Amino acid sequence: MSSTEVVRSNDYVVQPVSNVLGAEVIGLDVSEPLDVGTLAVIGQAFIDHHLLVFRDQSLSDEAQVAFSKQFGQLEAFPEADKTKSAIEIYNVANVSPKGEQFDINDHRAIYQKVNARFHTDSSYRTIPSLASIMYGIEVLPDNAQGGETEFSNMFLAYDALSEQIKARLEPLHMVHYYEFGRRLYPELPPVSIEERRMVPPVTHPVIRVHPDRNNRRSLFITTNAGNEIGGMTLEEGQALHAELAEHVAQPQFCHRHRWQRGDLVMWDNRCLLHRAIDYDMAAHRRVLRRTTVAGAGPISGPFSAES
Ligand SMILES: [Fe+2]
Repeated sequence: MSSTEVVRSNDYVVQPVSNVLGAEVIGLDVSEPLDVGTLAVIGQAFIDHHLLVFRDQSLSDEAQVAFSKQFGQLEAFPEADKTKSAIEIYNVANVSPKGEQFDINDHRAIYQKVNARFHTDSSYRTIPSLASIMYGIEVLPDNAQGGETEFSNMFLAYDALSEQIKARLEPLHMVHYYEFGRRLYPELPPVSIEERRMVPPVTHPVIRVHPDRNNRRSLFITTNAGNEIGGMTLEEGQALHAELAEHVAQPQFCHRHRWQRGDLVMWDNRCLLHRAIDYDMAAHRRVLRRTTVAGAGPISGPFSAES
């Protein structure tokens, strides 16, 4: 299927939202289990578009967890943080699960800023995640500035690199670590020994090979969980990382999702980066709930590709 094709069934439509990534699924209620045929169509649309937006949903936390489990096991979050409403649900919000809006200097509000940098969820794990699924409960009014989630397509970002840079990146691994957010925002409370033990620093290939997509290659980097690259000096690695960070943020690879209440957005962490676009946290409440589908195994780099 090409990325511009519209899929129609008796009761829903899958319609691309941009020419770089993403499709809307309109008319499908995901609060009930999907039948085998629908699950196959949605699974293929997910591979084709990398991001699906299910509009107009009405979901409890339990229904979101049940929907998410149809795509694999869910991750539990490492941090014993107040932003969590249940072990598998992460509260991406400037509001506590009890409804109280955070002061802008509250560490839970500051923590949201770590996500304003392009990243892929759970890259700090030995096995990074497959997908994130985020539900819009309270969103910004139409006339407010910011609050979108921006996505960048790492297949397109890789394809656009020069052959010389691709060859340079081929053997490299990036260091990913959860604690990096504390380096960015030292005012955040330190990571506990227990949390550090759960998610020690890991490395992943900078070029990711996708066995389920004919070994196609993409970039696999983050800017909120590290900036160091193995196999070169710290300074060289950080300079290369900064170059890549600038490269992936170019608008020709990106699409911004403007949240509507009731959106359930599912994206592929294997091939997209995303970031939260800044908004006035003192003026607006924004409540999103995220579940995360675990990856199937360590990621494949060029060394393990057949082609
Ligand atoms: Fe994220």
